[in-house]
Amino acid sequence: MKSDFLCLSDWTASELDAIFTLTRELKEKQKQGIAHPLLAGKTLGMIFEKSSTRTRISFEVGMYQLGGHALFLSSGTTQIGRGEPIKDTARVMSRYVDGIMIRTYSQSDISELAEYADIPVINALTDSYHPCQVMADLFTVLEHKDSYADQVYCWIGDGNNMANSWINAAAVFGFELRVATPRGYEADSRIVERAQQRGAKILFTNDPLEAAAGADVLNTDVWASMGQEEEQARREADFVGFQLNSEVVAAAKADCLVLHCLPAHRGEEISDEVIEGPNSVVFDEAENRLHIQKAIMATLMAKG
Ligand code: CP
Ligand code: NVA
Repeated sequence: MKSDFLCLSDWTASELDAIFTLTRELKEKQKQGIAHPLLAGKTLGMIFEKSSTRTRISFEVGMYQLGGHALFLSSGTTQIGRGEPIKDTARVMSRYVDGIMIRTYSQSDISELAEYADIPVINALTDSYHPCQVMADLFTVLEHKDSYADQVYCWIGDGNNMANSWINAAAVFGFELRVATPRGYEADSRIVERAQQRGAKILFTNDPLEAAAGADVLNTDVWASMGQEEEQARREADFVGFQLNSEVVAAAKADCLVLHCLPAHRGEEISDEVIEGPNSVVFDEAENRLHIQKAIMATLMAKG
């Protein structure tokens, strides 16, 4: 049966661990110039209904490095944007390509795509989740700290798609997570409930300094995500006090890592000083999107 990568909580810790192991191997090979054509002759269809820099480039380059090919399909230039049903798109694409990567709005669209496709489907961001990013983030922590499961993670800012994926990750891996959001911007309560039912250790607070106290990893994201542009001004007012700045870094461990999935709005959710500072690993994190996604694609698509 085909596997999809739609949401971290569909996977077990040991399956995701195997992806980290493969990521390490593929990254090493790529750095040493050793060919690793695990997807020779295969094609990935990449559907984008939202903008992207990192995701598009890393998936496309990743397929090339694996010996395959990637097709960029924007909703503006395909029939997807003109209302062709998802279930038809899924079945048509299954006749041409070996895997689908999709960035879109609704998680239920991705679930429908996966249900009707005969080939693996990868979630490259929805309004609900961004699982590839959190895998890259955890791999970055693994590289810098030699382990990820025993670290204390802190999320500051919007209870958005990234926060939801961190909550899922806390449930799957069992690490401690603290989530500080302004009132009214909490993470999706159904996702929180499901994580708590799985025994996730998560502190929810409205105090960034409480969340950051003694943490190993600090993480934030934009206050207005793609699709929320009209709320920017209101959110800027509501998120005052939720900037990842040097006061927050001082509350965490001295050797804490600062993550941000990028793109960042310096001066809003993160200060320029912190993103450019010694604790920041944001560009390693961005690079690791390439390596982790190669491992995800190889895991899903190498069979058959
Ligand atoms: N972090 C991330 O997904 O970046 P892009 O929106 O540029 O793809
Ligand atoms: N939360 C952001 C992440 C961008 C990579 C968004 O959805 O726009």
